[in-house]
Amino acid sequence: MISKKTRESMHEQDFDLSSEVPGLSIHIPTPQRPWPRSGLEAITYPVVGNFKGRQRDLVLKLYKVDVPARRTRLSHLLALRLATQHGPAFRAAPFVSFRAKASNGETLRGHLSRLVEGPFDGQSLDLTRALQSNKFRYSKTNRALLAAQLCSAVASMEQMGMIHGDLSRGNVLISQDADRRPQAVLCDLDGFRMKGVPELPRRHDGQFIRGMGSIGYQAPYLVKRQESFDEQSGDDSGLLVDSDRFALAALCCELVTWTAKYDTELGPLVSDEVLATRSTKSLPGRVRNKWKEGFQLLDRALAATGPDTLPSPEEWWGACRNLLAPAAGQSAQPAQPAEPGQSAEPPIMLSICRRRGNQACNELARARISRPSGTLERVHAALGDVHYRREGAALRLEFRWKPPVFFRPASDPKGRLKRIEGNTVTLEPGATVASGEFQLEFILD
Ligand SMILES: Nc1ncnc2c1ncn2[C@@H]1O[C@H](COP(=O)(O)OP(=O)(O)OP(=O)(O)O)[C@@H](O)[C@H]1O
Ligand SMILES: [Mg+2]
Repeated sequence: MISKKTRESMHEQDFDLSSEVPGLSIHIPTPQRPWPRSGLEAITYPVVGNFKGRQRDLVLKLYKVDVPARRTRLSHLLALRLATQHGPAFRAAPFVSFRAKASNGETLRGHLSRLVEGPFDGQSLDLTRALQSNKFRYSKTNRALLAAQLCSAVASMEQMGMIHGDLSRGNVLISQDADRRPQAVLCDLDGFRMKGVPELPRRHDGQFIRGMGSIGYQAPYLVKRQESFDEQSGDDSGLLVDSDRFALAALCCELVTWTAKYDTELGPLVSDEVLATRSTKSLPGRVRNKWKEGFQLLDRALAATGPDTLPSPEEWWGACRNLLAPAAGQSAQPAQPAEPGQSAEPPIMLSICRRRGNQACNELARARISRPSGTLERVHAALGDVHYRREGAALRLEFRWKPPVFFRPASDPKGRLKRIEGNTVTLEPGATVASGEFQLEFILD
């Protein structure tokens, strides 16, 4: 168990992680409230990554206890490339492991993910905090959009044969995309389960180090099993979360209907009474009537006897979609869960900066490009004349602008921007293109 003293000795220190990712180092500042955030297995806090001279806000999750199985599991998790290849809901997935020697010689282990900023003040905001602080004041359409994004994310995990294992309010971050539309992002993915990946033991050195899902998000059939489990009998594998579908059910209903007020008055949505009666009938009509279709599905989930009888993410997606359809135009359509076996093209990320003369640029926005073609109008009105077309991992840009266009290829990261003939350029990751007051950089995200 790492001591507080050991952990604090890392504050204000730099760590070279180039053995993991060439060119990467991190600085660990002294965490300010509301960090660090401490859980059963780990302590989480923001750090500053330095990647080839560019700074990035990252999150370090430091394991309290080093369990060998965790190392193998982490390499499996990193190999899934969730953070880069599976859409915005997986932006907080770990992308590099962290290993460093503390001043007392102790080896510290953990992993890094990108800091996902909340929509209001740049602070990380999970649904627990959003509800507690009364910041979760979204329209029903936006709430349904967040829930639908979660459905797509769970559908993707099912296609990968992966179980998150601890979907809950605390592990759903509320963020936004480049167009300022709400975006749900999953965190705490390291407790995942997958065929062929060794399970984390439940105890290590006599201490519990893995949970069994979070209260309020565990399927009643599992809770029953856990309650009647005899600790002496040993094999506890049947107690592990065997599907994310129940947690998805609870989360969809929370995202669409729940408020801080209900939490204070009624306790959690899946309260002890809801769990015991396996029905949402004990919830007041004013809550259930907000989303009849959703609560009917939740009733089905409560009655389920195993993972196969739980409503699927596609069914939940359909119910969320029904809330969106009447009010929202095209722009609010959530990504449909991909058909099994058909992996969605990974999004491409552009950093868009504003230039002041030849001075350094200020980042204006990050555009996540998922569609095959379009313009950058959503990022900034002045960018409506920048047309893009995806070409595999590259991006073809056409500037319908008068000012000359300058280009720096990825192969020459320190070189000068060179003027190009014509207004069309194909960007590979790492390349930069500038015109007028804007500079666009294709970043590997
Ligand atoms: N990438 C991220 N960006 C922003 N905030 C994050 C990120 N990862 C984690 N957080 C915040 O930190 C909190 C704790 O992180 P996480 O859920 O991964 O660990 P935990 O629940 O403490 O871990 P465990 O239960 O595994 O011990 C989250 O609830 C969320 O508020
Ligand atoms: Mg968590």
